[in-house]
Amino acid sequence: MARVKLQGLSKAYDGAPAVTGLDLEVQDKEFVVLLGPSGCGKTTTLRCVAGLESADEGEIYIGDRLVNDLDPKDRNVAMVFQSYALYPHMTVYQNMAFPLENAKVAEREIIASVNRVAKLLQIETLLGRKPSQLSGGQRQRVAVGRAIVREPQVFLMDEPLSNLDAQLRVHMRAELKKLQKVLGVTTIYVTHDQVEAMTMADRVALLHKGVLQQYDAPQTLYNRPTNSFTASFVGSPPIDLVDCDLADGNVLDAGSFRIPVPDRFLEPLKRTASEKLVLGIRPQDLRVNPTPPTEADGVVVYRFPSTSVPAEIYTTEPLGDSTILDLKVGETLLKAVVGATFAGDTGSKVELHFPPDRIHLFERGSGHAIR
Ligand SMILES: Nc1ncnc2c1ncn2[C@@H]1O[C@H](COP(=O)(O)OP(=O)(O)O)[C@@H](O)[C@H]1O
Ligand SMILES: [Mg+2]
Repeated sequence: MARVKLQGLSKAYDGAPAVTGLDLEVQDKEFVVLLGPSGCGKTTTLRCVAGLESADEGEIYIGDRLVNDLDPKDRNVAMVFQSYALYPHMTVYQNMAFPLENAKVAEREIIASVNRVAKLLQIETLLGRKPSQLSGGQRQRVAVGRAIVREPQVFLMDEPLSNLDAQLRVHMRAELKKLQKVLGVTTIYVTHDQVEAMTMADRVALLHKGVLQQYDAPQTLYNRPTNSFTASFVGSPPIDLVDCDLADGNVLDAGSFRIPVPDRFLEPLKRTASEKLVLGIRPQDLRVNPTPPTEADGVVVYRFPSTSVPAEIYTTEPLGDSTILDLKVGETLLKAVVGATFAGDTGSKVELHFPPDRIHLFERGSGHAIR
């Protein structure tokens, strides 16, 4: 088993940077997901670790070995590709045996290994078939099987589930996660799907334009994003982000509404150069009161700044177990998640509450979280 360490990894294609100054340490037996939008450098990073690309700068360690100058076959890693890359003319057995034959493993041992792994992946009955006679999910298992038989120190997986239909993907992500823990093999897994990353990873490394944004446990990424990019990439529906200005040192003025600055930001904001901010709140954290206080109650409504503001339901998106409300606060549109039984239709007036402890604040220029 082995840890993987990247130090200052950089790689450019024709002068265009794909990965820049990436530092990443993956612990022994850890499951790390490289997450980010298409083109952010995930595959490039993985290929550098595998030895399929050479790094322009930086060091790559597997275990205690510097592997920059080692051939892929000498790095003791196994890669599973999105396309599976199975040999079409070979049977499942032959596909799985191939890496062992290449490594000159004895015939008896090969038979034993392939059968053991086939059993683990429940593909024993498919060993005589060709890839063309398999379903997408079965091919995916064979590709994983072929990686496992070699008992590599590190698994590298590049979007291995993205060719499967949604239902099978959900099933396989649990299986892969379980398998990784059973085998205890250090794994770097690439995906652009934040749900896959959140559900599978011990830690997630989020990349944007080749630069590491945050490297943390899924819950930390969700609850304490270090910048507005991380905040908006993780979570569904995405976090509500609203430009606002700091007014009088203690009010967030979004133009269409004003709420007080939560106490914990007052000190950090004194150290912040700009008063141009972005307010973030997750749709699950907004509270919607379907029966807002009205003038007729004789109640003084919304003594500004209040943590509650008047809003109108713009549209509703029922999901079955919950409903997404699109709310209009003045000209600002916000999403809120409410229970499926929420009573309120398009055009209804509601009251929107911003729980102070659930508010995120970012500098507008840099995107950095204020804390
Ligand atoms: N072989 C290549 N030649 C030229 N540019 C490449 C090559 N591979 C990747 N790139 C570029 O490098 C950047 C990162 O690509 P990639 O690592 O494949 O991203 P991801 O896997 O996150 O989608 C992209 O801008 C992509 O166009
Ligand atoms: Mg890729």
